[in-house]
This record gives sequence, C-alpha cells and structure tokens, in this order.
Amino acid sequence: MHTTIRYNTVARLLHWLVAALVAGQFVLGWSMPDVRHDTQPVGLIAWHITAGTALLAAMIFRLLWRVTHRPPADDLAPVLRAISLATHWALYTLLFVVPILGWINASSRAWQIGLFRVIPLPALSPVGWSFGRAMGDVHGFLAWVLFILIFVHTAAALLHRYVLRDRVMQRMALW
Ligand code: HEM
Ligand code: HEM
Repeated sequence: MHTTIRYNTVARLLHWLVAALVAGQFVLGWSMPDVRHDTQPVGLIAWHITAGTALLAAMIFRLLWRVTHRPPADDLAPVLRAISLATHWALYTLLFVVPILGWINASSRAWQIGLFRVIPLPALSPVGWSFGRAMGDVHGFLAWVLFILIFVHTAAALLHRYVLRDRVMQRMALW
C-alpha cells in the first residue's frame, strides 16, 4: 500500500496558480485584437500584460522556492524520471522566456509596463528597436511551443492517473 508523498503546500499552490494564469494568457493572447504599429495597450491587451507580469512574479518566487525545497522522492524508472525532469525544466524555462519576450516587444512599442499596473517596471528594449519588434513573433511562436509542452505534460499526468494507475498525479493534488 503506497502513501502518496505530495509536493509541499506552497509548491502545489504555485503550480495551480501559474497553470490558471497561463490558461488565461492563452485565452487573452489569442482573443485580443491584433497588435499593429499604432495599437495602444488597452482592454484585453492591458489584461494580457497585467496577468503576464503577475505570472512572471509568481514564477520568480516559484523558482526560488523550487531551488530551496526538494521535490518529494518518487519511485519512477530512471528513464521516466529523466524525461519528466527535462519536461519540467523546459516548462520552467519557457515560463520565463515567453513573458520576457512579450515584455521586450511591449517596450519596443513604448508601452509602459507595471506590475499589477501599479509598480512601474523598467523598459527591456529601446523604443522602435528592430530586435524588440521582431520578438513579438517569437513570443507568439514560443507560446505555441509552451502550449504543446503543457498538452504533453497534462497527457502524461492523466496517463499516470488512468492507465498506469500510480500515484504521480496525486503528488500535485491541491487537497
Ligand atoms: C506565459 C505568459 C504569456 C503567454 C502564454 C502569452 C501568450 C501570447 C499569445 C498567444 C499571443 C498572441 C500571438 C499571436 O497571435 O501572434 C501574445 C501576444 C502578445 N503578448 Fe503575450 N503571453 C504571455 C505573457 C506576456 C507578457 C508578460 C507580455 C508583456 C509584458 C506580453 C505581451 C504581448 C504582446 C505585446 C503581444 C503582441 C505581440 C505581437 O503581435 O507583436 N505577453 N501573447
Ligand atoms: C490539468 C493540468 C495539469 C496537471 C494534471 C498537472 C500535474 C502535475 C503533476 C502531477 C506534477 C508532479 C510531477 C512529478 O511528481 O514529477 C506536475 C509538475 C509540474 N507541472 Fe503540472 N500539471 C498540469 C498543468 C500544468 C501547467 C499548465 C503547467 C505550466 C504552466 C505545469 C507545470 C509544471 C511544472 C513546471 C512541474 C514541475 C514542478 C517541480 O518539480 O517544481 N503543469 N504537474
């Protein structure tokens, strides 16, 4: 009889907070108006930026928490553990790179970025910088890569739960 060893409470709360914010970012990113040369950051675009900076703040805290707290031991085969670790660190990487590229692009458009629209954040690109402008497309492309990785990650969790019938999915259960 296994007992499930879960991630600690903070890690589980952060996992699901970030998952909810990312889901919102995809809905906003794909439903907001096309961003053109003279588009202003209002409405859905403003919400995309507000939620995106909150997500980045949550990720900074999450990374610090992760490197200072070991995940619980598991009994996965070494090859599965290696694949899962690689996927998790790819997710961590994209969860930093995607928002930072969005921020660079926003700065190149002279948009002022603020954490929760209150605390002003520095510009990450000079206004009009061609590299900063190009990062808009890279941001959109890497958002797709992130989407696919999340799909694979979720499918793996469901596979553990319903096919392999082990207790991996319970490791991240909120309650
Ligand atoms: C994980 C977090 C994020 C995700 C998943 C995400 C996702 C997306 C998606 C799917 C689009 C639409 C791309 C397209 O249709 O071409 C988009 C556009 C955009 N996002 Fe994000 N975004 C995130 C964070 C951010 C942040 C933090 C900022 C700014 C501070 C930002 C700024 C932008 C801008 C400026 C665009 C328009 C880019 C362009 O079309 O040139 N995003 N984002
Ligand atoms: C319904 C959707 C999801 C399910 C069922 C799920 C389930 C899980 C489970 C069970 C683990 C622990 C795996 C282990 O013990 O090795 C985990 C870890 C992880 N998940 Fe998810 N997840 C989901 C969505 C997401 C999303 C949307 C993201 C990204 C935004 C994400 C990012 C991560 C990361 C980075 C880890 C590694 C945690 C660490 O070791 O610090 N997950 N997830």
